[in-house]
Amino acid sequence: MDWTIQLIVNIILSFGGFLATLRAIPGMGHLFIRANLCGVDMSKRQSKKIPEAMGIVCGCIYLITIFIFIPIPFGTYIVFSQEGFPHEKFVELLAALLSICCMLLLGFADDVLELKWRHKLLLPTVASLPLLMVYFVTFNLTIIIVPKPLRWLLGFSLNLGPLYYVYMGMLAVFCTNAINILAGVNGLEVGQSVVIGLSLMLHNLLELGGPLRDTHLFSLYLLLPFLGVSLALLYHNWYPSRAFVGDTYCYFAGMTFAVIGILGHFSKTMLLFFLPQIANFLYSVPQLFHLVPCPRHRLPKYDCETDLLHMSSTSFQLEALPWPGRLFLRVCSTLGLVRLATSEGEGGITTCNNLTIINLLLKFSGPMHERSVTIALLAFQVLCSGVAFVVRYPLASLFYDV
Ligand code: UD1
Ligand code: MG
Repeated sequence: MDWTIQLIVNIILSFGGFLATLRAIPGMGHLFIRANLCGVDMSKRQSKKIPEAMGIVCGCIYLITIFIFIPIPFGTYIVFSQEGFPHEKFVELLAALLSICCMLLLGFADDVLELKWRHKLLLPTVASLPLLMVYFVTFNLTIIIVPKPLRWLLGFSLNLGPLYYVYMGMLAVFCTNAINILAGVNGLEVGQSVVIGLSLMLHNLLELGGPLRDTHLFSLYLLLPFLGVSLALLYHNWYPSRAFVGDTYCYFAGMTFAVIGILGHFSKTMLLFFLPQIANFLYSVPQLFHLVPCPRHRLPKYDCETDLLHMSSTSFQLEALPWPGRLFLRVCSTLGLVRLATSEGEGGITTCNNLTIINLLLKFSGPMHERSVTIALLAFQVLCSGVAFVVRYPLASLFYDV
């Protein structure tokens, strides 16, 4: 079957996924509340229960959409007994779905059982194993082309061998957790995923005319239904949220991106679309690794008098911190990247803003309304995607022979 027809069918099914998710989320909300899968919006005056873990609804509709789509590209080979069934592509698709499905299950387990941080690091690694196995059996290309400025040192190409598999496993851990820690204001988790998804879609569309058309087509088949269900979730999660996405959605989104990057062989380009998440992760490192105390929630502080969000902070004795934590805070404070305040007197208590780029935005802008915080951060995400496209296309010739 012609690939344009396949793409059109995929677009129609994705739209169906969008409509189904749009209806299912409000329809199933009361079931989630009854099962105690709900949370309180910490940045609102009233403390109403809001259904949580709605990512599971999205994920299930996503899987159903893809299951219905599978016979379109592959069924014609069977029905018309055509030669050359693309076994490798088929097994790649099944492994991709298995990894996404595993991650959905593990994310849901996290929402229900509130797992510890060490498990959150382990789960995506385990869920990516089927995918890495298939990569090993089908493609197994572990050679990377060295960027031009480093060729004098490393040569033209480098075979990373098993290290390449470690990199791909870590990619899944990064994508899933990076979305989950840039969170806490209405619409941000799913909003950032939609911007990353749209950027990847644009990249795939730009490459459709090139030599790797089949690979990019394959990635579009996985991406468009994802965008369909995510846009519907965004509608319900937008300020003021009627549904929370839960860790289930963050893991589902992160794994979908990792799968697309790995099987599409453009994981470096994909990471370029994660610039705000990389910045947030690097800024968060001292709290994530407990060099600076990390409270359960780092989302901004809500002032119910003014209905605005302020920076949230955490207090501790600076001298009691490990030296890398102290060094980080002193350097960042000098650069104006954290707000440190120490109370007078011996053994004074130091207060420091929680280390997320959401708080950093509020440090520079002053108190903001929740909706404006989300819009500002999503605008930043779009800007970074623009930068990523410039690096990937016009500037690529500085690094690679294109
Ligand atoms: C991550 C962050 C945590 C942040 C939380 C918010 C790290 C290490 N962890 O934790 O700092 O506070 O996400 O999602 O950075 N909520 C809102 N408004 C929203 C979204 C969530 O009030 O727009 C609250 C709700 O009470 C909801 C809860 O956050 O129930 C969900 O938090 P959860 O996803 O369980 O937190 P983590 O992912 O563990
Ligand atoms: Mg979360």
